[in-house]
Amino acid sequence: MARFTVLGGTSSEQLARKIASKLKSRYIGSELRTFPDGESKLTLKEKPSGNIVIVHSVYPPIDSNLIRALALVSQARKYSSKVYAVVPYMGYARQDREFLPGEIITMSLVAKLFKTAGAAKIIVVDIHSILALKHFTIPAKNVTAISELAKYFKKLHLKDPLVVSPDMGGIVRARSFAKLLGIDNIALDKHRDRRTGKVSIKSKNHHRVKGRDVILVDDMISTGGSIVKAAQFLRKQKCGRIYASCTHALLIGDAEKRIRQAGVTKIISTNTIPGKTGIVDVSPVISKALA
Ligand code: R5P
Repeated sequence: MARFTVLGGTSSEQLARKIASKLKSRYIGSELRTFPDGESKLTLKEKPSGNIVIVHSVYPPIDSNLIRALALVSQARKYSSKVYAVVPYMGYARQDREFLPGEIITMSLVAKLFKTAGAAKIIVVDIHSILALKHFTIPAKNVTAISELAKYFKKLHLKDPLVVSPDMGGIVRARSFAKLLGIDNIALDKHRDRRTGKVSIKSKNHHRVKGRDVILVDDMISTGGSIVKAAQFLRKQKCGRIYASCTHALLIGDAEKRIRQAGVTKIISTNTIPGKTGIVDVSPVISKALA
């Protein structure tokens, strides 16, 4: 008998189906109606049983997707005491600490909500920071998509490639990515104004970039500001082609267009957030974490 019933939320239906198939488990879909006032109404297509896995990313509309994920967890808890919440992209993870006095750490509330709704365990993919995960008082596991993204790049024929992290905070990620490809890496010195959100690159000229294809590696692309600034800097250093790789491509507004205009050849992301760039599948790493 299959160990799990996988319940797909509307934000992650295709990914949930893939996870169910890898776990050789029953898949149950859900239906969403949005009322004129914005309320979400969810209906399960069948009754779940056994250990239940909910798959529901929390990307924009963030608050709506959050309440939908919580509603599914809460409903599943009526059928099982073992409800595992898989939230491939965890919104609010960037609000993991008080950067400026008075800022509310909303990630802490989100963690409490998943527990209160009835999740016994939570699994996320490349969460923005491990500190965000520490707000959970239920077992919380972060799995990484770096190996899957690196597999994609192994197949490309890049010229003397170099992995570049747009900021110092991403150096460990860039290092692991580069190690998987057997190439070297650097990190740029990015500064973000905490009040305006404006990004600038403080790095001085970088002699290791000239003539080389670069892979910009980040956990997420939101407005594209970080990638645009990094690409502009790298072009000034006379690099070769520029690729942008991330786990979560939110690509808010015209981010994609601005990234291309900054000289990026291609954006490659995963299916934690479905979309044109989300071509790398994270179902193998999630299924492995559940099995
Ligand atoms: C920041 O620390 C993150 O790792 C990303 O670099 C950032 O969230 C990307 O945001 P944006 O695309 O808006 O610059």
